[in-house]
Amino acid sequence: MKLLHIDSAITSNSASRELTHYIVDRLTTEGDQVQHLDLHAQPIDHLAAVSLGFRTGQQAATQAERDQNALSEQLVSQFLDADTIVIGAPMYNFSIPSQLKAWLDRLAQAGRTFRYTEKGPEGLAGGRRVIVVSTRGGQYAGTPFETAMDHQEAFLRTMFGFMGIANVEIVRAERLAMDRDGSLAAAKAHIDATLTAPVAA
Ligand SMILES: Cc1cc2nc3c(=O)[nH]c(=O)nc-3n(C[C@H](O)[C@H](O)[C@H](O)COP(=O)(O)O)c2cc1C
Repeated sequence: MKLLHIDSAITSNSASRELTHYIVDRLTTEGDQVQHLDLHAQPIDHLAAVSLGFRTGQQAATQAERDQNALSEQLVSQFLDADTIVIGAPMYNFSIPSQLKAWLDRLAQAGRTFRYTEKGPEGLAGGRRVIVVSTRGGQYAGTPFETAMDHQEAFLRTMFGFMGIANVEIVRAERLAMDRDGSLAAAKAHIDATLTAPVAA
């Protein structure tokens, strides 16, 4: 297995980091390849004029543009090389951390992860397993009103669905501001019950 482990929380006592590590420990066995991206410790530059090369297709004119093109290529190749991707995605202001958005912005590349056809967009990154750890202080899964405020899980499902990964697996720990211990314990019980390590070859 080639597993890509992504963390994006900015906090030191992070629930999503605890849960992504818990999942990676359970999914991997000796011999598996694991790469870890800590998007807080090593943030990815937000998209800017110098980093639009993969969208415009124009020849890079400056060293800054070449560096940014290389970064975009490295990140999309790393993503496409993985068969399992585990993502820590805390809810910040009803959405995801901007650090995680910056990573996703590098993945949405025409011809690599999606393409437009006569019938509309087609995802090119299917066949990968994506597990999202969704952590949040409040509660959003439940009433339609609360669900409408969730631009975190909904956004991630949209992004990965667009890239061809329709069945994003969500491991959710919510109400962390009210009952952190209970929420983490329930999330770990869910992981133990639903995510099993593949049988070693
Ligand atoms: C900057 C910031 C914004 C937040 N915004 C929300 C929010 O909109 N809704 C919510 O329910 N919790 C919000 N929270 C609480 C986090 O979702 C909660 O603390 C969760 O544990 C974050 O995951 P982490 O522990 O991995 O950092 C916010 C926390 C931070 C630090």
